[in-house]
Amino acid sequence: MALSIVRTAAALRAALAPWRREGRRIGFVPTMGALHRGHAALVERALASCDRVVVSVFVNPTQFAPNEDFARYPRTEAADAALLERVGAHVLYAPSVEEIYPPGDATRVTVAGLTETMEGAIRPHFFTGVATVCARLFSHVQPEAAFFGEKDYQQLLVVRRMVRDLGFGLEVIAVPTVREPDGLALSSRNAYLSAAERRAAPTLHRVLQTVAAGLRDGAAMAGLRPDAVRTLRDAGFAEPDYLDLRDAETLAPLDRLDAAPARLLVAARLGATRLIDNIAVQRA
Ligand code: PAF
Repeated sequence: MALSIVRTAAALRAALAPWRREGRRIGFVPTMGALHRGHAALVERALASCDRVVVSVFVNPTQFAPNEDFARYPRTEAADAALLERVGAHVLYAPSVEEIYPPGDATRVTVAGLTETMEGAIRPHFFTGVATVCARLFSHVQPEAAFFGEKDYQQLLVVRRMVRDLGFGLEVIAVPTVREPDGLALSSRNAYLSAAERRAAPTLHRVLQTVAAGLRDGAAMAGLRPDAVRTLRDAGFAEPDYLDLRDAETLAPLDRLDAAPARLLVAARLGATRLIDNIAVQRA
């Protein structure tokens, strides 16, 4: 089935109506475009459990602060459509800013608690922008399931909470991070890295693995963090915004592994590019 490209909520509703009437399960993958193998993995996961898959490409202005990269964020619709066609997605929803934020729009969605730390502390506007756009996209698409990468782990938890609190009645399905062979998590922002930065970037994942090994051996974050930060600095990273062990559900800070599932998360700048990564850590 050829990929349909639609640009309005009305056209999307019309495209999905016959499938809804046939009782098809509709999966949704929200993206900001500049699609790569990580997005392809989200679509493949959606195709594995849904009859029809809608992918949105929308560079969402409300999740960027004025000093961030909204203007230079890569916009590659033709290549995105080619990738989606190849992977087998059914609909590409590429709305305008006015379609998502109609003139005079005054409503924002804010999730308390989970958003007040890490990414939310560094980028205070970010999660309200994400929650707001996801709420609007969910109401346009009305999917049975939505698929989010674990690469943006805090975002995944925030969206899951919003879906539960607002009763969207859809499943939020987590998809594991896709990595380059050297461990670097795939991200549209990797395109900003110079050749030298690209060579240094996998240090972020290596540091997570080293800290995770230390935690499994019984060490505490307080003891492991200084060496980890030094390794990042030696590779050319700035002081990390955070390098934290957190409860995998509540994001409560932890110093050591205990019986509950935990997540190790990091964010640091390499030159002008801010990279984030995270891994699950479990007691051995
Ligand atoms: O992860 C992203 O690409 C974005 O934050 C999302 C979920 C598409 C919302 O704009």
